[in-house]
Amino acid sequence: MKIKNICCIGAGYVGGPTMAVIAQKCPEIKVTVVDINENRIKKWNDPDVEKIPIYEPGLSDIVKETRGKNLFFSTDVDQAIEKADMIFISVNTPTKTYGIGKGMAADLKYIELCARQIARVAKDDKIVIEKSTLPVRTAAALKNILDNTGNGVKYQILSNPEFLAEGTAVEDLLNPDRVLIGGDIETENGMEAVNALVDIYATWIPKENILTTNVWSSELSKLTANAFLAQRVSSINAMSQLCEVTGADVDEVARAVGKDSRIGSKFLKSSVGFGGSCFQKDILNLVYISRSFGLNEVADYWEQVIIMNDHQKRRFAANMVQTMFNTVAGKKIAILGWAFKKDTNDTRESAAIYVADYLLNEQAEIEVYDPKVTEEQIYSDLDYLGSRSGDVNRQAVTVVDSALVACEDAHAVAILTEWDEFVNLDWKKIYDKMYKPAFLFDGRRLLNSKTKKEIGFDFYAIGN
Ligand code: UDX
Ligand code: UDX
Repeated sequence: MKIKNICCIGAGYVGGPTMAVIAQKCPEIKVTVVDINENRIKKWNDPDVEKIPIYEPGLSDIVKETRGKNLFFSTDVDQAIEKADMIFISVNTPTKTYGIGKGMAADLKYIELCARQIARVAKDDKIVIEKSTLPVRTAAALKNILDNTGNGVKYQILSNPEFLAEGTAVEDLLNPDRVLIGGDIETENGMEAVNALVDIYATWIPKENILTTNVWSSELSKLTANAFLAQRVSSINAMSQLCEVTGADVDEVARAVGKDSRIGSKFLKSSVGFGGSCFQKDILNLVYISRSFGLNEVADYWEQVIIMNDHQKRRFAANMVQTMFNTVAGKKIAILGWAFKKDTNDTRESAAIYVADYLLNEQAEIEVYDPKVTEEQIYSDLDYLGSRSGDVNRQAVTVVDSALVACEDAHAVAILTEWDEFVNLDWKKIYDKMYKPAFLFDGRRLLNSKTKKEIGFDFYAIGN
């Protein structure tokens, strides 16, 4: 089966970069990315390629190379579905905010809407691929909808979870550790669909790194991978608190531990807490699924990873207040970094949002600088929490376009994202412009403590 037309529903952090790379590597395939959000599609089509809605190193070059040739962005979802041989579903699946499973289960309403739309429009056989991270056995539900509401056409459902990390999406897509494809591998038609997708990835990825499994293993592997990664961060963050009271240094501990080849050195960086669209959501999903099967011990085990992460964010903020003589009311605090990690403009679940919220509850005044996040996004993140009115957020929080401006006349600076540019700021100049004692809280262990203390800062890093 040779694929000529691909449609991807959802032009987000996953759909956008993934389709751009497929288009680049497979010039003979026409790739159309569709989204119901007109504004987002407009930005993807902006003549100035630097204005595409997602910031990822290297992405704009690929879009420049492929857009208008074999990569297209459109809001005409029906037409793209109809023409495609293969449809990726890459819409968001946020944690439910209502009803059963509120705060835990994945909200699958967008996925279901996509399935119903495909069923309504499709006139010939399609391969439908779950790219969104989904609870285990969602593919079965998708198939049920497609088979029972469709125009009698045949569907093969594949699970192809995305393992790219934001900030390194292009690199991860070009050189993935592995690609995972789940399908109905017991049947000939299922295997044919799996192979069609294998062939696409095999254009640039060695075949031995393309794994095929049954659909459920594939779906569960994604949740498991994210749970294991997040667990490592929560594990090292738990140790960071112990380091602070015992005089150990968490980076030294991480280095010593990571040298053990059975453990490995990655994902052992202590921080103010993990964020991003996946870790929390996927673990909550795992917890919810486990509980729904009555596996309470399994659920409790994984839930602890989230509890530890919430604790880390809260204790970082609480420590700031306590250190600043138990009050930050009316004090100006500069927050450097709002994104959930460096090299992305994504702020979903970013620790910065929660730290800022805590400080605002203590009546601090906040000035934020992030190299890639917009003012509008920062206010919308705070408003979303609903802790206070939008007006109050806009009064108490100012967003500026340089680190130096944010730090001027501040009582304290908090580093909440590990942007490279923060390392080489003129810290002496910043110190001179701040109130004294000048407090510097490093939530990312980004800065050299010795040089900052020499300048005169009251310096605090997580895990020291
Ligand atoms: C992805 C995955 O799909 C999600 O499951 C994973 O856990 C996190 O990453 P992401 O690409 O980051 O999501 O989400 P987002 O940037 O929000 O993009 C989703 C897009 O889908 C949005 O632009 C939204 O407008 C679009 N969408 C949503 C549709 O086009 N149709 C819908 O019905 C719903
Ligand atoms: C993650 C997975 O890595 C990826 O495979 C999956 O497809 C989606 O979820 P992402 O959320 O984009 O990717 O970023 P990741 O690099 O995993 O970072 C997640 C969070 O953990 C960030 O807030 C990051 O700052 C934090 N983190 C990561 C740490 O605090 N310490 C670490 O050592 C590593």
